[in-house]
Amino acid sequence: MAIRNIREIGDSVLTKISREVKEVDKRLLILIDDMLDTLYDSQGVGLAAPQIGVLKRLVVIDVSEEGNDPIILINPEIIATDGSQIGDEGCLSVPGKVGTVERPNYVKVKAYDKKMKEFTLEGTELLARALCHEIDHLNGELYVDKVTDGLRDVVFETEEVD
Ligand code: NI
Repeated sequence: MAIRNIREIGDSVLTKISREVKEVDKRLLILIDDMLDTLYDSQGVGLAAPQIGVLKRLVVIDVSEEGNDPIILINPEIIATDGSQIGDEGCLSVPGKVGTVERPNYVKVKAYDKKMKEFTLEGTELLARALCHEIDHLNGELYVDKVTDGLRDVVFETEEVD
């Protein structure tokens, strides 16, 4: 288990197309564990392998509030979408920024699990957004190129104490 260094915008690895995973070996299982450690450490919703400098089609996502419901997707592919949602998006590779992005409100994905068994996953709202965002990373695409109103600085809400 290890926390890996997250690559940031401007790093060319983020613009490259990742390669398909052919087999799940020991190294890949370690990579998956490290990606989950890195995701939870950074309190993100999702992380794609190229974000830690590995050009493999591998994504981890956890949209649960407790951060105890990891989804691991090997070679994920969007096979259906429906509707649309407009909302703010951020990225661990673009720290301190958010931007409004339109995404489908429903996404169905085909992927492989750690045993290379094929499965499908359906998501709406935040999960649909995360699936699109992370799969974009595997194709060298960042959300910053999809924002409709430009990037904004993250404003932290100050807690009022009375
Ligand atoms: Ni991202």
